[in-house]
Amino acid sequence: MKRRTFLAATAAVGLSSQSTWAQATKATKPLRILILGGTRFIGLHMAEYALSRGHSLTFFNRGRTKTDRLPQIERILGDRNGQLEGLATGSWDAVIDNSGYVPRHVTLTGELLKARANRYLFISSISAYASLATPNDERSPVGKLADPSTETVDGATYGPLKAACETAAERSFGAARTIVLRPGLIVGPEDNTDRFTYWPARAARGGDMLAPGQPTDPIQVIDARDLAAFAVLALEQQLAGTFNIVSASGQFNMGQLIQASITAASKLAKPAQPAKPIWRSAEFLEKQNVAPWSDMPVWVPPVGDGAGFAATSTDRARRAGLTIRSLEVTARDTLAWHLQRPLKEQQELKAGLSAERETTVLNAKT
Ligand SMILES: NC(=O)c1ccc[n+]([C@@H]2O[C@H](COP(=O)([O-])OP(=O)(O)OC[C@H]3O[C@@H](n4cnc5c(N)ncnc54)[C@H](OP(=O)(O)O)[C@@H]3O)[C@@H](O)[C@H]2O)c1
Repeated sequence: MKRRTFLAATAAVGLSSQSTWAQATKATKPLRILILGGTRFIGLHMAEYALSRGHSLTFFNRGRTKTDRLPQIERILGDRNGQLEGLATGSWDAVIDNSGYVPRHVTLTGELLKARANRYLFISSISAYASLATPNDERSPVGKLADPSTETVDGATYGPLKAACETAAERSFGAARTIVLRPGLIVGPEDNTDRFTYWPARAARGGDMLAPGQPTDPIQVIDARDLAAFAVLALEQQLAGTFNIVSASGQFNMGQLIQASITAASKLAKPAQPAKPIWRSAEFLEKQNVAPWSDMPVWVPPVGDGAGFAATSTDRARRAGLTIRSLEVTARDTLAWHLQRPLKEQQELKAGLSAERETTVLNAKT
């Protein structure tokens, strides 16, 4: 692939209206950062924050996703699946790998760049842990692949593949130059999964709103902008090692998420009838075939295999400077972003219950 550069006339062109970084102070030392996959969701937030700190950026991707965003950033076109010619030259202070899902891809970029970049930051996931039945910290065992050669990314392999990618990054760059971030559910404006978005979007419709489990059921999320700020901080401070990146255990619960969504909706969408949560137990929802996480996004009942899911330790990241914004701010900004999406995207969310299904469940005998 040929290297293609797109330089914009002004540094401000393409910054999203959701940018909250206008007031960011400049870093003491500007860094040259290569982002592998920068044009979707978390990459956009990382890029905007890094720019606001005075860093210079290069994106490496195939040129398919959101090609109109951040046009002032240099682009190198290629494919992680072996088309890396565009990365044959150039040097960077740091690489942020947002788009690594199989270890072969991470090894390809790790080996190619280890002599021309100082640090490799790999975005992994808390799904890397072997079990979510008990709370995890960074020393907990990670999952292992039944077939180490598989490159099929699905519900069973996603986590162990991420763990194998972490190892691949460390093998190339060495532990002292590798940062592994393990985010929990990433939320906020630009989220293409619609999981957190479902709640403020649902509250915006108003009326009786199905709410899962108990208001006290714990949740953990990370606003993509807080993840972005920590990633850039980790590079600026030349951190190394593994960090869980999510809100603190016990910080947020489902009742607070629902309330933050209703508050955001009352300000931004002003439904004729404000949304009113109707709480239904995990047992009732199971009987109605309402699935945690996909039908009732963000929520995982805190029992059995999921007992530790929303209790991940973040002590290490918090000591290193991770900050978490409030659910009110995330819900408000997510709804503001959602309400300006194309109508089709607003109406066809990828997660949560349809209005019809929700009504059926609400009308079912308890
Ligand atoms: N969403 C969550 O809740 C969550 C939670 C924990 C961890 N994570 C991790 O967060 C990361 C980021 O996710 P995301 O949704 O923001 O982005 P993503 O979907 O992983 O990556 C999209 C970016 O990568 C580029 N890309 C995709 N395939 C490519 C390829 N074969 N070669 C080169 N570039 C490629 C895309 O541009 P082109 O299409 O133009 O190539 C785009 O810029 C992932 O590593 C995911 O595992 C997500």
